[in-house]
Amino acid sequence: CERQDGRPFRQRLLVVANRLPVSAVRRGEDSWSLEISAGGLVTALLGVKEFETRWIGWAGVNVPDEIGQKALTKALAEKWCIPVFLDEEIVHQYYNGYCNNILWPLFHYLGLPQEDRLATTRSFQSQFAAYKKANQMFADVVNMHYEEGDVVWCHDYHLMYLPECLKNHNNNMKVGWFLHTPFPSSEIHRTLPSRSELLRSVLAADLVGFHTYDYARHFVSACTRILGIEGTPEGVEDQGRLTRVAASLWFFNCLRHQFPIGIDSLRFQNALLVPQVQEHIKELKERFSGRKVMLGVDRLDMIKGIPQKILAFEKFLEENPNWRDKVVLLQIAVPTRTDVPEYQKLTSQVHEIVGRINGRFGSLTAVPIHHLDRSLDFHALCALYAVTDVALVTSLRDGMNLVSYEFVACQEAKKGVLILSEFAGAAQSLGAGAILVNPWNITEVAASIAQALNMSAEEREKRHQHNFHHVTKHTAQEWAEMFVSELNDTVVEAQLRTSK
Ligand code: ADP
Ligand code: F6P
Repeated sequence: CERQDGRPFRQRLLVVANRLPVSAVRRGEDSWSLEISAGGLVTALLGVKEFETRWIGWAGVNVPDEIGQKALTKALAEKWCIPVFLDEEIVHQYYNGYCNNILWPLFHYLGLPQEDRLATTRSFQSQFAAYKKANQMFADVVNMHYEEGDVVWCHDYHLMYLPECLKNHNNNMKVGWFLHTPFPSSEIHRTLPSRSELLRSVLAADLVGFHTYDYARHFVSACTRILGIEGTPEGVEDQGRLTRVAASLWFFNCLRHQFPIGIDSLRFQNALLVPQVQEHIKELKERFSGRKVMLGVDRLDMIKGIPQKILAFEKFLEENPNWRDKVVLLQIAVPTRTDVPEYQKLTSQVHEIVGRINGRFGSLTAVPIHHLDRSLDFHALCALYAVTDVALVTSLRDGMNLVSYEFVACQEAKKGVLILSEFAGAAQSLGAGAILVNPWNITEVAASIAQALNMSAEEREKRHQHNFHHVTKHTAQEWAEMFVSELNDTVVEAQLRTSK
């Protein structure tokens, strides 16, 4: 399609996600600075360029006053972002509570936090009420900015109630929903008191997307077992209304509804050519000369298996004394969801283990583990990826894991090895090139570290090429184009069906 001025027509896309791509930090009564947010959702969506995108979400900060809200709205508008203002109480109940203390651990098969299980069970209803209220607040902002013909793309477990809110207001809106976490087995989903309401609301969308075929299958079987609605090869059909269900990765290459998620791989490859990054690479090489570099980059989250990873590294050092002064593990863990008690406990646990191992295997001049609780800027991150010999992605569960993609994109020169959890969605796309491990089995992970460090150059090259091909071919842009085009088709087909 073309506009009248000959420029190609770009569809308007309203991306709705809990978190905006930038988080706000208040500098004065009416002044704000914006920092890039960390997380796979942001990384994937920032790679999407060919739409007129407006991003609706929470700026990660409580802004009770009108002056602050006005100034922040203006600052965000320059980044094509539209804020949803959530007050402290809603954030506490909806984000810290229902999203991150209930849905997040459940969807990653970790169960409810051990110590306050009963308290959590008691607060289910009030937190779910806050969750619905917050979703309605997102819907109100979408409705305010929606123009006919827009595609509304809702994201993640924070906004499962949003499709229904949107469709109740305007049934003609094209609504898609994509989940960036696993969708668990229906046996797990069944335990949620709000199980039916959440499923019904998601089904109000026209197209529902998941990272892998397994997650899509779990979702369809939850609809069958909990709502009594049968799945069809196309999705889920209830009283003549079809919600199409699709996944990024299909095991058997079933082509019709495939849209593999990815990153903007060229952005990473090009970053390595920037003089400042090259300089940084040189410094890192000098700093760690004579030692192999192993790298972990994660949000400091219990699903990422950071303690297990570090214990596996300890086991490796224990069993391979000849490697002790020849290898270093750099673990960069950006703090996340710091108001949730489980995350606070994790931070102290990781610090304790790292301290113990450094005390045990360190010397006056070197320690085996460098652990940083912080976010690195994009260029520093690319330089680190480029000098790494072995990347360790040992999530206990992970929807996809785009860190593994970023590492591969930066490894054309070095052809380092990726050790990857079999419980990350990425195991289905990068599994043939990576060494797959069960992160709970630290003996196996320790053995994989030895295998990776001793791997021949030919085998590294072969494995890297496999993964590099996938990462450079399936980009974030392609993922979004395929999702949006599938959503457009789904709506047209539905209209044809009802007009017959
Ligand atoms: P998740 O969505 O659970 O956070 P992903 O691996 O898919 O997991 O995405 C994480 C994103 O956050 C990546 O783009 C990664 O570069 C970024 N990230 C994670 N940890 C850090 C860090 N310490 N510093 C900078 N960026 C980080
Ligand atoms: O990919 C999972 C995810 O929950 C994203 O939705 C989010 O961007 C990321 O992790 C970071 O989490 P949060 O927004 O809670 O900091």
